[in-house]
Amino acid sequence: MRIVVHGGAGHTGEVQDGVETAADVGWKLLDEGADAISAAVATVVVLEDDSRFNAGTGACRRTDGSVQTDAAVACNDGRLGRAAALEDIANPVQVARLVMDEDFDALAGKGALDYARSRGITPAMVAGSEKPWAGDTVGAVAQDASGAIAVASSTGGVSGRPVGRVGDTPHWGGGLWTDAGIGIAATGIGEAISRRLLCFRVAQQVADGLSLAEALEWGLALYPADVCIGLIALSDSEGAGASNASMPWALRQD
Ligand code: GLY
Repeated sequence: MRIVVHGGAGHTGEVQDGVETAADVGWKLLDEGADAISAAVATVVVLEDDSRFNAGTGACRRTDGSVQTDAAVACNDGRLGRAAALEDIANPVQVARLVMDEDFDALAGKGALDYARSRGITPAMVAGSEKPWAGDTVGAVAQDASGAIAVASSTGGVSGRPVGRVGDTPHWGGGLWTDAGIGIAATGIGEAISRRLLCFRVAQQVADGLSLAEALEWGLALYPADVCIGLIALSDSEGAGASNASMPWALRQD
């Protein structure tokens, strides 16, 4: 079993304690027999509830001052759930988790909010953060005792982007990817991540024989130094995190 967690590329070590707390929550769940999806989602909920991070309660604001969040959950059993441009939901990762079990895999805007309400999630005003954020996201990749791997990510996006803008976090293959023996989550400027299909391409490097650490460095090398990017990943045998900026992250494994 293992879990790797990040608190966003570009974030300082001042919030490392929040990432450690979230990793401990996910690890304890795995140790108690939880499945990878439950552990990854619970870990991300802890970070969404910590307003120092750009997700959930601490999400950044759009050009009009509103808060819209994106989230995604995927499992290497083939399930995928995504919620985008979601307002008034403190834990968007829980909406993405519910979508995983539907016969569609993504909802956005009002439809996502209506769906959340219909599934018992109570909307609440999310004030968001006044802090200008440049692409931070929170994420977790977990592998449970059965070997299943799940990825969960959540973000407030990038400060000052327009209403309705959707970043990389729910972009399958861009902001997250999982397949047999691999799970990857990205953080940073969403457009840069999506345009390069970053997580899928990094996974291909692992399939071609690179170690996780080498593959993450390969992914970072696709970018100039002023484009803030971070990655976390698990395989069947290891976990890793890397960023071209500061990025709080934590790994637990047995
Ligand atoms: N990586 C978060 C975003 O760009 O939306």
